[in-house]
Amino acid sequence: MNRGPALSYNKGKENCNQGSDTMDHHYAEPHEVMYHTQLSRALLMGADTALLPGDPGRVRSLAEAMGPTVDLTSHREYTSCLTQVQNQPVLVCSTGMGGPSTAICLEELARLGIRRVIRVGTTGSIQEGLELGDVVIIKAAVRLEGTSSHYAPLEFPAVADFELTQLLAYAALVENVPHQVGICCSSDTFWPGQERYDSFTGYVLRRFQGSLKEWQQLGVTNYEMETAAVFVTSQALGLKAASLCGVVAKRTESESIASPEIYRLAENRFQTIVRRALNELLAREGKK
Ligand code: URA
Repeated sequence: MNRGPALSYNKGKENCNQGSDTMDHHYAEPHEVMYHTQLSRALLMGADTALLPGDPGRVRSLAEAMGPTVDLTSHREYTSCLTQVQNQPVLVCSTGMGGPSTAICLEELARLGIRRVIRVGTTGSIQEGLELGDVVIIKAAVRLEGTSSHYAPLEFPAVADFELTQLLAYAALVENVPHQVGICCSSDTFWPGQERYDSFTGYVLRRFQGSLKEWQQLGVTNYEMETAAVFVTSQALGLKAASLCGVVAKRTESESIASPEIYRLAENRFQTIVRRALNELLAREGKK
């Protein structure tokens, strides 16, 4: 069984955590069931790629947009399906909202052999020129959240895997999907951290008052809640990660969330990009 740090504990704690080249990896046994996602390696059928929507309600439609789909598990915020692209299994599993549940999901998926993840979500745009329904392909994230600091110090950047991100951008281009490649701000909160005043008290801490303008000034494109945790946790676990989000709130005009029709438009568009990118990627790998 592949368990325990590569270095023995009696060498002292500081010697037990020296970077991925000296760290042992705790892969699950084939039928071992993960506590939160209820997934096992047997259920994944060898899948090494996962699509990660936040919303459990979006799992099935995303999976079906990729290929033939079977339901796997549903426990807490984690709903999962297995789909097929280029005859290869691809997992679709929801992460729930925010960093903590996302990092739990990534930890369990890494143990099951997942090596590549693509977050698929929704977002509020903060730059002119990004319209409702457009897609932002995220190359880096502002770490306005707490989860990622449990995996790497705040000085460490939250960046996407370059090749996976390039592939998504290429797919958006050839599929003619309106998009931008941008930097998101991942916030632990939907209201104060994203400087929304339409909350119960309407109060936003001084720390966040004027923050939207500052992020705009720095060229940040959009607000969402999971990408920084996905990027930093993935880096710490040795996974490749990318992220793309459909715009469902145009924060340059209003704080409100768009209609269900806009949601569906954004959903169709990010599905189109991911389907194209996965087909390219897995066809290429299948030929090797
Ligand atoms: N998700 C967010 O976190 N913010 C938005 O404005 C829209 C979706």
